[in-house]
Amino acid sequence: MKVLFIGDIVGNPGRRAVKELLPELRRRHGLQLVVANGENSAGGSGITPKTADEIFSSGVDIITSGDHLWDQKEVNDLVERERRFLRPLNYPAGTPGQGSLVFHADGLPPVGIINLQGRTFLPPLDNPFHAALAEVEQLRRTARLILIDFHAEATSEKIALARLLDGRISALIGTHTHVQTADEQIFPGGTAFLCDAGFTGPHDSVIGREIEPVIKRFMTGRPQKFEVAGGRTLLQGALLEIDDSNGKAKRIERVSESLP
Ligand SMILES: [Fe+2]
Ligand SMILES: [Fe+2]
Repeated sequence: MKVLFIGDIVGNPGRRAVKELLPELRRRHGLQLVVANGENSAGGSGITPKTADEIFSSGVDIITSGDHLWDQKEVNDLVERERRFLRPLNYPAGTPGQGSLVFHADGLPPVGIINLQGRTFLPPLDNPFHAALAEVEQLRRTARLILIDFHAEATSEKIALARLLDGRISALIGTHTHVQTADEQIFPGGTAFLCDAGFTGPHDSVIGREIEPVIKRFMTGRPQKFEVAGGRTLLQGALLEIDDSNGKAKRIERVSESLP
C-alpha cells in the first residue's frame, strides 16, 4: 500500500498547497491513502468543519490533529460527528471524539490509524506510551497495517515511542514542530519512522507565521499578533510503502513539494 502522510497544514496557503499539489502526487505515486495533520488549517490555529471539508475534497482521506485542536469553537461539530477526523487518543476519559479509527477502502487491507500527543513541553495528557500500547493491541485484531501520527515536541519522546512500537506498527510519523527532520528510516522490526513531517504552508516564515512579529516577541517578551505568512509555499510530509501481507514498511521517503 502506498500512503502519503502530510505534515501540519497551516492556514489558507497550506490548504491551497494540498488542493493544487495532491491530485498530481496521488497520480505520480499511485497513492491509496492520504493522512494529513490539520490542526493549524483554520487561520493557522485550529480547524473548522469548513477547512476540514476543503482538505477532504482535495483528496485527503483522514485528518489528524494535536494541541491546537480546540482553538476554534466550531471544532466541536467535527470532533463529535466526523468519522474521518481524529483527535489525540490520550485526552482524559470522557473527551468527545475518537483517537483512532480503521480505514476501509475497496480492494485495500484495513488500516488502523492512531493520533497521539506528546507530554514533553506540552500540556499533560494521559501517558501516550501506555495509551499507544493498548490501542495498537486492540487495532491489531482487525488491521495488520497501523499508522501513528505522534504530535509531539521532543525528538526523544517520538523516537522512544516508535522504538517501543517497532514491529507492531507500520509507521510512526511525528508532527507539531513544523520543521522536517532528515532521519527517515525503517527500524529493525519493520516500522518506518520520521521524527517530524514538517509543515504544509508558507516557508518564508517562522514555522508558518510572519517573521517580524515573532522576532519582536522574542526580543521584547511582549505578546504580538502572529499572522499566517505568505510567499514560498511547500507541501511537506512522508511517502510510505507498506507490505500488505505483514504490515511492515518497505520504504519511507521525505516529501517537500513546492507550489508553483
Ligand atoms: Fe502545528
Ligand atoms: Fe501542534
